[in-house]
Amino acid sequence: MQTVLVTGANRGLGLEFARQYHEAGWHVIAASRQPDEAAQTRAWSAELLQLDVRSEVDIRSLAHVLKGRQIDLLINNAGYHPGTQQLGQLDYSNWPTAFHVNAIAPLQIAEALLPLIPPGGKIINIGSRLGSIACNEGEGSYAYRATKAALHCITRSLAIDLAPKQILVAALHPGWVKTDMGTSAADIEVGESVSNMRNVIATLGSHNTGLLINYDGEVISW
Ligand SMILES: NC(=O)c1ccc[n+]([C@@H]2O[C@H](COP(=O)([O-])OP(=O)(O)OC[C@H]3O[C@@H](n4cnc5c(N)ncnc54)[C@H](OP(=O)(O)O)[C@@H]3O)[C@@H](O)[C@H]2O)c1
Repeated sequence: MQTVLVTGANRGLGLEFARQYHEAGWHVIAASRQPDEAAQTRAWSAELLQLDVRSEVDIRSLAHVLKGRQIDLLINNAGYHPGTQQLGQLDYSNWPTAFHVNAIAPLQIAEALLPLIPPGGKIINIGSRLGSIACNEGEGSYAYRATKAALHCITRSLAIDLAPKQILVAALHPGWVKTDMGTSAADIEVGESVSNMRNVIATLGSHNTGLLINYDGEVISW
């Protein structure tokens, strides 16, 4: 049985990743800030672990608890949107949180769990088209765009460093999805986004490691 670890697995895309991988017969490790309140994931007998991605103690403890185990797929899904903020009204107070959750934590988690990821294993960072510099058409979101651009850059570096170990790394854009973050005005349902991303993850190989890939499989330019 293959094992997937999902961060931010208590709601939104993370919860749906956990649900779909469980349904597909994977062992699911659902990491979230308040695992005691993750009633749905508990019902699928997922393994529920505590992880505030901003806490180094939590990350160290996660790696310790899982020592000796194998993680075939790590999905760095937890994310924070600090608001769309327009120029002239920027609030810099939440930038550190945004960088921590969206860019620094995924790298820290990958680094901590690396000994558990076997050759052929995969690390997926949930990025965003909003973090593509090539696709930027304005409309604010300075902080969110910057953090996801940083995550994409980290994804590329990790892919290069881990290629000799045959560990594949990619950033995935889930589409504009109906979650708390995406709002009900979004284009697509959570289930559709995640099932498409699962297809992309399944096809990830040495030919497409280190890329930013849309949920429909199209490569998005940086
Ligand atoms: N929805 C979209 O349209 C869209 C588009 C592009 C990219 N994305 C990306 O997709 C990912 C999932 O987003 P979503 O749409 O599912 O958003 P969401 O429904 O708002 O869920 C965000 C998740 O991140 C978790 N999280 C935030 N800060 C955390 C922390 N410090 N430690 C642990 N978990 C933390 C939340 O946990 P709590 O419940 O504890 O807050 C929650 O599980 C994010 O990386 C987001 O940037 C989403």
